[in-house]
Amino acid sequence: MRWDQPEPNYWQLSSELIFQYHKLEKGMCMPGKPRFFGEQPALDTIALVERWRAAGFPLTDPVYLGAMEGLRGYRERIRRTPPKLEETAARIFPALDRVLSGHEPATALATPMPFTGQKPDALPALTDLCHARRSVRAYADRRVNLADVREALALAQLSPSACNRQPWIVHAYQQREKIDSMLELQNGNGGFGKTIPLLLVICVEARAFFDGSERNEPYVDAGLFTMSLLLALQARGLSSCCLNWCVEPDTDREAHRRGQIPESEKIIMYLAVGYPEAEAVVPRSARRGIDSFLKVHA
Ligand SMILES: Cc1cc2nc3c(=O)[nH]c(=O)nc-3n(C[C@H](O)[C@H](O)[C@H](O)COP(=O)(O)O)c2cc1C
Repeated sequence: MRWDQPEPNYWQLSSELIFQYHKLEKGMCMPGKPRFFGEQPALDTIALVERWRAAGFPLTDPVYLGAMEGLRGYRERIRRTPPKLEETAARIFPALDRVLSGHEPATALATPMPFTGQKPDALPALTDLCHARRSVRAYADRRVNLADVREALALAQLSPSACNRQPWIVHAYQQREKIDSMLELQNGNGGFGKTIPLLLVICVEARAFFDGSERNEPYVDAGLFTMSLLLALQARGLSSCCLNWCVEPDTDREAHRRGQIPESEKIIMYLAVGYPEAEAVVPRSARRGIDSFLKVHA
């Protein structure tokens, strides 16, 4: 259980806030005739916004502004679909008006928004990218520009995550001794570890999750994020290789120590990043046939 900690901490509060206001923004996108919904999540979001302010967290943070815009959109929405119960209206509107008073609309974060995702012309580029990305195990002796990695991370950040909590944290190491010391704890970089110019450690912040029922979410969220990252890196000519984190607890603790990774961050995997060596070759790594894994049910 993580969300029972009395201390306000950024990760817990921001995740709770996203978790609640996301119910509002998603409720506003449901098909069919608009219905009244979301009283409890709205009240919970309001209470969390007030806790955020009391804790002194920044009012310019996208999470806070996203919540405020969620409440603003929700107020507009329920104004248009008046609640059946007078009592409900009496409870919810004053609370919404109170928390939103003085809020300057952050139009870039207004929610909901039109869906503009129909892009059939993107298929050739995606096809190329998926074929181009391979696990590379021979890197050129060339420093990776962190600005390129930041751009790739900005795309990876668009990956879906449970309730949009975006629990990932990425540690980046470029110093040779540091990379070697981290790689010493990992068993799948033999023969090429010394050529890796940039090592990322993909983690997930445990405080973004509320209890054991969410035990799979860190892996799922980090996996989706990492896949987007691999493609975004590849699109910039940067190759990569995922490096498993199958280690005993002692090794995991040691990696946290060596990498200055806080205890609350769960290491999901390492990721080697760099430009491929000019003569680099890769295994064919043939894929199974589609029919071996697609099971269409009548
Ligand atoms: C979670 C995960 C862990 C991996 N660990 C290693 C590793 O420790 N060492 C390595 O050389 N490759 C590792 N790989 C790379 C896989 O071997 C590779 O993705 C697979 O063979 C398919 O090849 P491709 O990535 O070139 O398409 C890992 C991949 C994943 C997704």
